Amino acid sequence: MDSFRNIVNPLCTFLFLGIFLHFASSMPRTNAKTHNHDFVIQATPVKRLCKTHNTITVNGMYPGPTLEVNNGDTLVVKVTNKARYNVTIHWHGVRQMRTAWADGPEFVTQCPIRPGNTYTYRFTIQGQEGTLWWHAHSSWLRATVYGALIIRPRPGDSYPFPKPKRETPLLLGEWWDANPIDVVRQATRTGAAPNVSNAYIINGQPGDLYNCSKKDTIIVPVNSGETNLLRIINSALNQQLFFKIANHKLTVVGADASYLKPFTTSVLMLGPGQTTDVLITADQPTAKYYIAARAYASAQGAPFDNTTTTAILEYETAPCLAKCTSTKPVMPSLPTFNDTATATAFTKSLRSPRKVDVPTEIDENLFITVGLGLKNCPRGASRRNCQGPNGTRFAASMNNVSFVLPSKFSLLQAHQQRIPGVFTSDLPPNPPRKFDYTGNVSRLLRQPARGTRVYKLKYGSRVQIVLQGTSIFTAENHPIHLHGYDFYILAEGFGNFNPNRDTAKFNLIDPPLRNTASVPVGGWTVIRFVADNPGVWLMHCHLDVHITWGLATAFLVENGVGELQTLEPPPADLPLC
Ligand code: C2O
Repeated sequence: MDSFRNIVNPLCTFLFLGIFLHFASSMPRTNAKTHNHDFVIQATPVKRLCKTHNTITVNGMYPGPTLEVNNGDTLVVKVTNKARYNVTIHWHGVRQMRTAWADGPEFVTQCPIRPGNTYTYRFTIQGQEGTLWWHAHSSWLRATVYGALIIRPRPGDSYPFPKPKRETPLLLGEWWDANPIDVVRQATRTGAAPNVSNAYIINGQPGDLYNCSKKDTIIVPVNSGETNLLRIINSALNQQLFFKIANHKLTVVGADASYLKPFTTSVLMLGPGQTTDVLITADQPTAKYYIAARAYASAQGAPFDNTTTTAILEYETAPCLAKCTSTKPVMPSLPTFNDTATATAFTKSLRSPRKVDVPTEIDENLFITVGLGLKNCPRGASRRNCQGPNGTRFAASMNNVSFVLPSKFSLLQAHQQRIPGVFTSDLPPNPPRKFDYTGNVSRLLRQPARGTRVYKLKYGSRVQIVLQGTSIFTAENHPIHLHGYDFYILAEGFGNFNPNRDTAKFNLIDPPLRNTASVPVGGWTVIRFVADNPGVWLMHCHLDVHITWGLATAFLVENGVGELQTLEPPPADLPLC
């Protein structure tokens, strides 16, 4: 009998395996889904800080709808513009492989959706997991038009950490007691810096510390002992933010939809555009604790919104419900506004979970200065239009080019249809003049030149960019965002980048993969990526005030060989100018 069973068992296993493999191969490779959404851009009355403003929203929601998908899924989002402004939607951090037409930046990959018109964005999430977001990419509309994009692992796959009990997106935003479009228009007219915001918000609410806000403060419920995932997004327009929760440690597990080697900290720093996923364990006495965010303001002497937004982490446990309503939440002590040491310690702690495939050979070695500038008052212009420092107008540039968006064609359309005269492919790969970037910059070097100048990359080229901050007018931290790509951040430092000294500091083992790098105030950051996504991709400072002044450029990535390395044809409903 025994010997018989010994023969039968392997046979059964073999048969079973055969049947299983047969079914597995006849099933579709994944159970990827298509998510259809309708976004209606419309003006909606929103009351904050005791006053109501007609606010541009998606579907009347502020912030807009949270989209939840799995890695591998396809999104089909039909955007109808019922507002009185032009609009586009950008899927911040989505790689958009071969679908640059769906990326969204106005006049870069599409012309705006005019009032009354529609456009449907179609794209697939490929190999990204974690938290991203979407936002308007036209003028300053993203001040109120934004929402979370949550990407979970493929069905059947799991997180590389214990499954959290609950998941909560926390969108940090910025609120003006005015129409943000009027704020930027006034700045464009005067040449001065735009007014700073009146409040920061968490999921649309300023919180207890502001007038008329207390009863609407966001509550994040927890139960004692459970571990939850918080997906934190800095969707503020113009401000890097520190983030803290009283008495609780945060275990960072991801950023910009890439996993990280977990590490524990009490404070986060996020630049606009960046996301951070953290685990939090409810291991404190049953009570209420403030979740708080306020500015990391690195520019010396520049005005900023110095208020603090709060939400409340509330233990749900029964005895608390009675007791906690009376007691005040515990407030965390936030870093001081100019605490660059804390900001740097945070960004330097980020590591990929394991050894990654960083390109070691480099085909394109770029050195790009990023910073402010000042334009002399144009001849014949009125002093009213030159209210920047000493009668100038504010400007900003990359390698001295202050980027100007086209207006008759998008860059992508001009590239694909070979329309001449829209842009030139001559962004200098190095600063046109070398100077002491972070020292005392001479007045003569302050004026950037306007232009629509992009940089061309061959498909598959391995690119390194040294992003060098400048101290023209004032040094500050710049969140530099690249569309269509994630890049490895190899190193950062202060002062002028020195290849002889600083190359030795490159992390070629486990650097973090991100879409937005915080270039330190008066310092530099080195990034690398492989140009494997054809299209035209904007790279810019994610402080909207700086993109308004021209702190941007674009990479034109050529097609490679064959269909899989070629940009898809434009959709039939692509808005034209
Ligand atoms: Cu989130 Cu071009 O931006």
